[in-house]
Amino acid sequence: MTQERPVWSSKLTFILAAVGSAVGLGNIWRFPYIMGQNGGAVFLVVYLFLILTICFVPMMAELALGKHTKKECVKVYEDVSPKLKLLGYLNPFTGVLISSFYFIVGGWIVNYIVKSLADYKITDYASYFSSFVKDEKSVIIYTLVFLFICIFLTARGIKRGIEFANNVLMPLFAVLLVGLLIFSLSLPNAHLGLEYMFKPDFSKLNGHMLLSALGQALFTLSIGMGALLTYGSYIKEDKSITKSAYTIIFSDTLFALLAGIMIFPAIFSFGLEVDSGAGLVFVTLPYIFSQIPHGNIFAFAFFVLLFAAALTSGISILEVSFATITERFNISRIKAATILFFGVGSISVPAVLSFDKLSNYTIFSKTFFDFLDFVTANIFMPLNALILCLIAGWCYKIKGDTIIKNVVLAKLFDIGLKFVIPVVLVVVLYMGLK
Ligand code: PFF
Repeated sequence: MTQERPVWSSKLTFILAAVGSAVGLGNIWRFPYIMGQNGGAVFLVVYLFLILTICFVPMMAELALGKHTKKECVKVYEDVSPKLKLLGYLNPFTGVLISSFYFIVGGWIVNYIVKSLADYKITDYASYFSSFVKDEKSVIIYTLVFLFICIFLTARGIKRGIEFANNVLMPLFAVLLVGLLIFSLSLPNAHLGLEYMFKPDFSKLNGHMLLSALGQALFTLSIGMGALLTYGSYIKEDKSITKSAYTIIFSDTLFALLAGIMIFPAIFSFGLEVDSGAGLVFVTLPYIFSQIPHGNIFAFAFFVLLFAAALTSGISILEVSFATITERFNISRIKAATILFFGVGSISVPAVLSFDKLSNYTIFSKTFFDFLDFVTANIFMPLNALILCLIAGWCYKIKGDTIIKNVVLAKLFDIGLKFVIPVVLVVVLYMGLK
């Protein structure tokens, strides 16, 4: 029996799901910490430049390929030539690797929800976080709980839940972010955070930062691992995807900027380390909540909404593998769920352990967790985006005027897809890795 392909019930459901995929931990957790490690404002300038110039083309190409072929991503590659099958598999493979650290961060959130419920008065947040991540048994349990919830929801199908999360919870999240941001701006020395974020020092520009900005841009917009292709393949009617692309880019960038303006003033006000890495937000946020009357209520609301944002992104990451496993091997969604739970879980466990027991084992001087984060966003996603642009432009011959109304933009798209973007991606990859 062959599986029936899912379809979005309306265009709005699709847009909401795509925005839900984009807005997630990448905006609230990853963006501030990568920016903190890459010199602040100058990183922001490069990041925004890449979002506005480079990312539109691969995003449209992914959506268009999905919509046009109505296939899961490996088949899309295989149909060009069986030799490309392996490159197609790089998409769900990247997804599994991303899942294995993304769900750990989701597990941290679950822990913070539990703690805020218990009205837990933590006094030293920096050491709380670093001791919590070393409590490996708890982190593994929290990670698996989050992974289970996400896989369960994905296994039930793509539509249920996503609509509610995006329709109701995301606007609520934006409102809460604005509230916290205003509070953060009222803290002493907040202006130092704003300067850090908006006063660029171009002498800090280098190839490594360029690649980090590209990786962050692709990661946050969900480009370069087949998620948009897969979501695009569930579009029913012949609806335009251009507006969806604008909506994704606009809302995602808005959330990242709100998160930055909430976090950086607080970091400087509390005298925290701006380049402290993956724990940055998890150390800074509790400081903010501790200063607000009834802060634990705000903390609870914040982490629940962040959880919802992570969930809708997590679902889209998993859906790529779900589509590939169910359609290629004709396996039920329940069986696919089991395979993915154990597959992702078995990579997550060593990644959790890399915060303590395995912290001495490094790959290119990165712990396993940091390595997974680095290699997926900075190498696999640009590489996947590059291959996808070439396939869409040269093999499927996707033409701008069939997907974009504006004639000039459509022409620019054609040139971008076949020539400019692939060259830029190769150059940035080269400069960043050399
Ligand atoms: N864009 C998501 C975020 O910012 O949290 C993460 C993500 C989702 C990455 C889907 C890749 C992907 F295909």
